[in-house]
Amino acid sequence: MYKIPARTLFVGKSLIYVPECHSTNTLLAELSGQQNLAEGTVVITGFQSAGRGQRGTQWQVEPGQNITASFLFRPHFLEPHQQFALTQWVALAIAETVKQFVTEPIWVKWPNDVLIGSRKVCGVLIENTLSGKMIGQSIVGIGLNVNQLRFEFPMATSLRIVTGRLHNLSLVFETLCEHLEQFFFELRAGKILKESYLKHLYGWREKLLFSAGENDFEAVIEDVTAEGKLLVRKGADLCAFGFKEIRFRGL
Ligand code: BTN
Repeated sequence: MYKIPARTLFVGKSLIYVPECHSTNTLLAELSGQQNLAEGTVVITGFQSAGRGQRGTQWQVEPGQNITASFLFRPHFLEPHQQFALTQWVALAIAETVKQFVTEPIWVKWPNDVLIGSRKVCGVLIENTLSGKMIGQSIVGIGLNVNQLRFEFPMATSLRIVTGRLHNLSLVFETLCEHLEQFFFELRAGKILKESYLKHLYGWREKLLFSAGENDFEAVIEDVTAEGKLLVRKGADLCAFGFKEIRFRGL
């Protein structure tokens, strides 16, 4: 049911569809350990029995309704301390993809959830492995909610919920491949994606409610560091938080 994208040079040209699997990220990592897969290879499925999310969570969605896929890249031009560039690239590519299908504002919730308004439409799990001093392989796992109407997570949404119509999964997938490739070329050419990332950043320069450890507090998102930390202003203090150190309240 998924077609090889016509307008890409390498992303999605090798397409492995499995009706069901445990996790496309895990399957792609296994396959890439067994054979020399072409860069841009995609594993895509209709259903994951053990889909993985960030912070060790599970990613559970209804069968056949959404894009559930993992993409293989070899960003040899990046060092491990530049991993956040990958996060920005993927988030922006997904944001541009979603923009093709909805008219509502699209945001990136730091570090790389994609939101329509304030509801999550897409989650990303990037798993990198090193080759010497550089990033050798990057498995980019994307769960994009397309046609599902009901979610357990109250802040989730889908293209269908927002637009009121069914979407062609193959077309959404093709659009995603095109944007991933386009932004990957920009990244490889050394383009700094931070300015665009900040423009899409949910809550940038706004006061939001956060929690860190036992503390709830209001703070204003000021910036992100090159390593991907979130810089927030709490009163007179500028504080940097890593991914596991801070949460957005109510999102
Ligand atoms: C998150 O928001 O917590 C990240 C979710 C990532 C889900 C995708 S679905 C395809 C790929 N395979 C997985 O097991 N996880 C990612």
